[in-house]
Amino acid sequence: MSPAFQYRLRTPAPLVSVEDYRHAARRALPSMVWAYLDGGAEDERTLRANRASFTNWHLRQRVLSGHACADLAVTIDRQRLDLPVLLAPTGLTGLAHWSGELAAAQAAEQAGTRLTLSTASSYSIEEVAAGTSNDHWFQLYPWGDGPFSDSMLSRARDAGYRTLVVTVDVPVQGNRTGERRTGMGHPPILTPRRMADAAIRPAWWYGLLRHQRMTMRSLTHITGARGAVESVSIQNRRIRPDLSWRDVASLRERWNGPFIVKGVLEPDDAVHAVDDVGATGVVVSNHGGRQLNGAIASVDALPDIADAVGGRATVLLDSGVRTGSDVITALALGADAVMIGRPYVYGLAVAGGAGVGAVLDILAAEMRSTLTLMGVARVADLDRDHLRRADA
Ligand code: FNR
Repeated sequence: MSPAFQYRLRTPAPLVSVEDYRHAARRALPSMVWAYLDGGAEDERTLRANRASFTNWHLRQRVLSGHACADLAVTIDRQRLDLPVLLAPTGLTGLAHWSGELAAAQAAEQAGTRLTLSTASSYSIEEVAAGTSNDHWFQLYPWGDGPFSDSMLSRARDAGYRTLVVTVDVPVQGNRTGERRTGMGHPPILTPRRMADAAIRPAWWYGLLRHQRMTMRSLTHITGARGAVESVSIQNRRIRPDLSWRDVASLRERWNGPFIVKGVLEPDDAVHAVDDVGATGVVVSNHGGRQLNGAIASVDALPDIADAVGGRATVLLDSGVRTGSDVITALALGADAVMIGRPYVYGLAVAGGAGVGAVLDILAAEMRSTLTLMGVARVADLDRDHLRRADA
């Protein structure tokens, strides 16, 4: 028989929201890694706007609708997802937890969705494909030269990835002052304080040293990098400021499956991507406030882009999604699904793949209860009539 109560000096509070996972991840990670994961560009005005702009919209509560359940399923390019939330590409995810993108991809498929594997991932294209049973998405930086992208495209194709996401908002690396301040530069600056900060997190260090997931594994044969900071520095040298639509069009010619351009904030760019380049979709994104500081919040850019290309192409949104009601707001504004970046990496930092699953479960439960409280049966039924502008 179990006792009526247990006495503990302190009961750990359960983690019931993405924000709870954020706080727990902060405690689990050394400051340098936290700055890399959570920070934005310069004074982080766009990072903050990504959150604040969701409050420009209110959800309409319609009572007594008689609907018994809330269906979260969506179909993107003939691929059914059980929930309208994909995991965004995040580089060097193994820094948050050694199990990295592989555990995240496995958690995503258990939840009925997919991971978008970053070019800069800590598990290679082939490792993630071998450890999962579904066709996850692959993200490519169009770093230009033919042989590099040819080899990445054919590796992704051979490993079974069907959807290609091309990220276009990194012609230069955003000015991440927080990363530089904490010594996440090259070479890394180690002070006694920073070393102590790392030393009080033995689980993190053990995972890091035992599993060695500090480099961009799809690229190590090209870069020869031995550590995270060296990987980032080599990646930064490959970035090309002279990128143009021609580079993206040339990738499109070499990829047969769904082709999604990530990092679009202007309707004209979305139209160009779809009509002239032949993209099957766009991700309305400011890279989580990590690139152009001062750029518009993604959710503010979404309605015009959905009006311009929605219905003809997939419209995804990322940057700032932290709750189920954020997802519902984005879908009502015209997104077909959203991507989350930091939220799943918080989950990963706290509890590996189980933490990613927990974050997805939290968002799914919040979406279901939000839809039910709004009197909506299916995410597919959402449109702008379900919203009111806060200032209207
Ligand atoms: C990113 N992002 C990103 N995007 C991309 O296309 N390729 C990449 O390698 C990375 N790497 C990366 C690392 C980290 C640590 C973060 C936080 C983000 C951007 C990412 O795909 C997505 O656009 C944002 O994370 C979305 O914002 P939220 O959900 O983090 O607010």
